[in-house]
Amino acid sequence: MVNLPGRVKMVEVGPRDGLQNEQREIAVATRIELIDRLADSGLPVVEAGSFVSPKWVPQMAASGEVFKGIERRSGTVYSALTPNLKGYERAIEASADEVAVFAAASESFAQKNTNCSIDESLARFRPLLERALEEGVPVRGYVSCVLGCPYEGDIDPARVAQVSAALLEMGCFEISLGDTIGVGTPAAARRMIDQVAAKVPVEKLAVHFHDTYGQALANIYAALQAGVGVVDSAVAGLGGCPYAPGASGNVASEDVLYMLNGLGITTGVDLKRLVEAGNFISGALGRPSNSRVARAMTN
Ligand code: HMG
Ligand code: MG
Repeated sequence: MVNLPGRVKMVEVGPRDGLQNEQREIAVATRIELIDRLADSGLPVVEAGSFVSPKWVPQMAASGEVFKGIERRSGTVYSALTPNLKGYERAIEASADEVAVFAAASESFAQKNTNCSIDESLARFRPLLERALEEGVPVRGYVSCVLGCPYEGDIDPARVAQVSAALLEMGCFEISLGDTIGVGTPAAARRMIDQVAAKVPVEKLAVHFHDTYGQALANIYAALQAGVGVVDSAVAGLGGCPYAPGASGNVASEDVLYMLNGLGITTGVDLKRLVEAGNFISGALGRPSNSRVARAMTN
């Protein structure tokens, strides 16, 4: 059997990456109930919202209220996406435990998503990281478009490694590699991870696969073999990025957990409760779950 980690940290991004892309308005109470149910399933990290410009992503505008309404479960870290110092201050005001900055390996995507170049985005994160480090708030760094860009096509893994290293050097404790549009396949994912791992210790890497082409589980398996021990996913396969045409949902958390359970990898997450959380939000959105495992376990 190949080498696989004994334990994986699951990072649930459904309440943020999932709901940021919904066209309809989602009640604050629904967002809160989803987060509470996810935490109750034992997830160690729940990305509960984002403090970006409400003009850019109106879906996340009420994240402050969401953070105030959740029932904090000890053992769960509640994190938030923050694009700049203003976002960081709003996140801290809402008592986020951890924040995340987001950069890209593609210039065109950086422009579309954050209205600036890659270098400008990194410069914007510097004061945020200085403040966060001073205040003892851990900062995660995302890199988008690691296996392809909706505007530029193929992305050079060397560029991914360079941006990842810059985020690490600034003080990010973990770098999440985002296949934003879900185009990657296992060999490409492995090549990219190996190249990044030459600059960022593999223990600090996370993977974040959208499942547009149905490759996410295979890619995660390849990442585990490369030594990655942190996996992002969204319950019920919610998700997408409003500034990445063609980006479908994230890999479903239920499907990831089912695979990890089958591999004998410990996560601390309860599958039945996770499925219930996914069915709750699918019901609230009025559509079937995108998780194959949830559908199989529910029917
Ligand atoms: P900008 O328009 O260039 O910024 O946007 P600005 O600094 O000129 O500010 C414009 C206005 O926004 C001002 O207000 C600011 O105060 C306000 P006005 O004076 O016009 O009334 N503003 C803010 N308000 C609240 N909170 C803030 C904030 N910042 C500015 N934090 C900016 C630049 C980066 C802010 C904008 O482009 C933005 O918010 N982008 C976020 C887009 C986004 O959230 N995308 C989805 C998340 S990324 C993703 O999904 C990928 C990921 O999942 C990984 C993967 O899959 O690859 C993470
Ligand atoms: Mg994403």
